[in-house]
Amino acid sequence: MYVVFFWKEHLPYNLIMGQDVTEKIAENVFDETGWKEMVRAGEIAGHSLVYFQQIDSTNSRAMEMGLAGAHAGTVVFAESQTGGKGRLGKSWDSPAGSGLYFSIILRPALAIGDLSKITLAAGVALCRMVRRLYSFSPQIKWPNDLLVANRKCGGILVEADLRNQSAPLVILGIGLNVTTPSIDFPEELRESATSLQCHVDIPIRRKELLETVLVETDAVIGQFEQQGFADILKEWKKYDATLGRTLTWITADRQVVKGVSLGPDNEGKLHIKSGDGRVHEVISGDIRLASYP
Ligand code: BTN
Repeated sequence: MYVVFFWKEHLPYNLIMGQDVTEKIAENVFDETGWKEMVRAGEIAGHSLVYFQQIDSTNSRAMEMGLAGAHAGTVVFAESQTGGKGRLGKSWDSPAGSGLYFSIILRPALAIGDLSKITLAAGVALCRMVRRLYSFSPQIKWPNDLLVANRKCGGILVEADLRNQSAPLVILGIGLNVTTPSIDFPEELRESATSLQCHVDIPIRRKELLETVLVETDAVIGQFEQQGFADILKEWKKYDATLGRTLTWITADRQVVKGVSLGPDNEGKLHIKSGDGRVHEVISGDIRLASYP
């Protein structure tokens, strides 16, 4: 094992290389073309950008800003998070210099009952982004894990304030592992996590990645608002990592249900058929694939 230090702009790029990490990650640390200009201008892809070097959680800050009246489309971005939040109260490891952590303030023209589908729609946006930039198809593990080669390289956390039912405030948070070497993941995630650069031969440009996610997010939310969820769901199913696979569902009250995934229904709820023939409708909880490390 050896340590490689990169200095780019003001950030130390500190990559600790393990035997399972290829040289290309060391060589291809973010191409930062245009990054500084974007940060200075405070805008990207038609969105206002609020940039933090370090923050507790971009989702929490975006929620505060949204409640204080920040306009829809505002992007809250952090180079690192000290309290990055994942689904189900988990944390999201957010070291500087190897990932993208940001949240978009949305005020979608959608019924309250449709808001939970935004997680699936955002998954489609991430898959479109990967296809468009790197010409391969990732997968999604219901509801919010972006997988490449069966390992998680991104996650989505949607939070909402529904006090004003006619104008809900939604925060769409996205975390992407971009150049993180496996050894830098927390030990319990080392076998199940990956980063995009491991699967892409060209150096990844964070600006291009962020820009493309925003363009694809705008497109998919617009599509949802104007045409409904049906086509988005159809597309989501093409990326479904669980269909027909054996999985374990850990319910919100920690019960364990084993079964086979039948995929999501029209409402985006996952259906699982357990050994006794029962079909369970999953709205929340943790899904673990049998062969998912
Ligand atoms: C998950 O996979 O459980 C969701 C992870 C979401 C992480 C992102 S990072 C940016 C945004 N801010 C947060 O605190 N969480 C989301």
